Amino acid sequence: MLNRHEFLEKRGLVLTVAILVVVAIGGAVEIAPLFYLESTIEKVEGVRPYSPLELAGRNVYVREGCYVCHSQMVRPLRDEVERYGHYSLAAESMYDHPFQWGSKRTGPDLARVGGKYSDAWHVQHMINPRSLVPESVMPPYKFLANAKIDPENAAGWLKANRAVGVPYTDEMIEKAAEDLATQVDPFAADFDGFMARYPKAQVRDFDGDPSEITEMDALIAYMQVLGTMVDFTIYEPEDNYR
Ligand code: HEC
Repeated sequence: MLNRHEFLEKRGLVLTVAILVVVAIGGAVEIAPLFYLESTIEKVEGVRPYSPLELAGRNVYVREGCYVCHSQMVRPLRDEVERYGHYSLAAESMYDHPFQWGSKRTGPDLARVGGKYSDAWHVQHMINPRSLVPESVMPPYKFLANAKIDPENAAGWLKANRAVGVPYTDEMIEKAAEDLATQVDPFAADFDGFMARYPKAQVRDFDGDPSEITEMDALIAYMQVLGTMVDFTIYEPEDNYR
């Protein structure tokens, strides 16, 4: 066996070809499953595409690089599940393009942060994190409260997401601007239509300033929906690694 290997080692070109063959096999083993991704992500009840306002918040999250310090991926390990709640399911990020799993936790995981704090807490935390958590190293994002969102842009965000596979319908795209405004106004004309398009969406003014729709509204709407789409109370406790 070793003698035969000598044959390879003494011939550069043959060795190169042999290396390429081995690497190609390794590559195929990693790449092939991606073609069957559709069948590996189990659909889970409750997971729906983001509403226009939530999507706007997600865009802010990506733009500001929140993922550099925060993950959105609760691993199925006892300590994580006890701290954050049920481990993340693949389906929970099936409409995230790109996904926000992250690779570093300077701050806590945010996959289940929805409902953990009040909107007012989030506003104050974004304006000045250290006013609530004195030892925090999180930067302030006060400017978001003054950054107005133009609802007319919403249709474009939905279209871009549809291009990469999120099942936004023509109706959702057509109503995107209106839906964005409806989510901060429970008395809006098409409230029922909005709720039918985005079941269980949370509708209210998020940033404490009902006079305009800001990136603060959007980001908090996004924070408050994270981890809330799937109803985990229907699972047996042992499913939860507790
Ligand atoms: C430099 C790293 C850093 C960046 C960037 C950062 N954070 Fe944080 N974040 C932290 C740290 C550290 C904490 C824990 C202390 C605290 O609560 O302020 C935290 C806490 C949080 C919490 C509270 C989580 C909990 O469960 O208590 C939220 C929500 C949050 N960050 C959202 C954001 C958002 C949204 C952005 C982007 C606009 C962002 N963070 C950017 C470091 C960061």
